[in-house]
Amino acid sequence: MYSEKVMDHFQNPRNVGEIENASGVGTVGNAKCGDIMRMYLDIDENQVIRECKFKTFGCGAAVATSSMATELVKGKTIYEALQITNKAVMEALDGLPPVKVHCSLLAEEAIHAALWDYAEKNGIKIEGLEKPKNDISEGEEEEEY
Ligand code: FES
Repeated sequence: MYSEKVMDHFQNPRNVGEIENASGVGTVGNAKCGDIMRMYLDIDENQVIRECKFKTFGCGAAVATSSMATELVKGKTIYEALQITNKAVMEALDGLPPVKVHCSLLAEEAIHAALWDYAEKNGIKIEGLEKPKNDISEGEEEEEY
C-alpha cells in the first residue's frame, strides 16, 4: 500500500528535532484525526533555508511527508519553499494512498506557518503567502472514502 520511499522516511525520518532560536516555527494540526506537526526553519540573511527540522505527532504518512518536506526545503530560498506543494512532496515519495493525501497537507501548511512566523518576526511580507490555518481540517469538505 505504501511506496518504499514512504516506508523509508517513516522508519528513518530525516531532520527530526528542534532548532533553538529558529528563524520561524510553525505548528499545524488536523482536528479530525488529531495529528499535529511542528516545523522549524533556520533562514540566513539571504533568505535561504539553511536548516529545517520537524516534530510530528501523527500517522506514518504524516511523518514520512514531513521528513520529505524538510529535505525539499533545505537549501531553498523562502520563495522557492513557498512553491513546494503537498503534491510535490507526495511525488517525491512516489505517491500516497488516496485516504492519506490529507496527511501531506499538514507538511505544506507547516512550512507555510513557519514562513509566516519568520515574516512576522522580521516585519516583512512574503508575497503569495497567506496566513496559515492552525487546523487544516477547518473548512475542509467532508472527505469521501
Ligand atoms: Fe492525520 Fe495522517 S491521519 S495526518
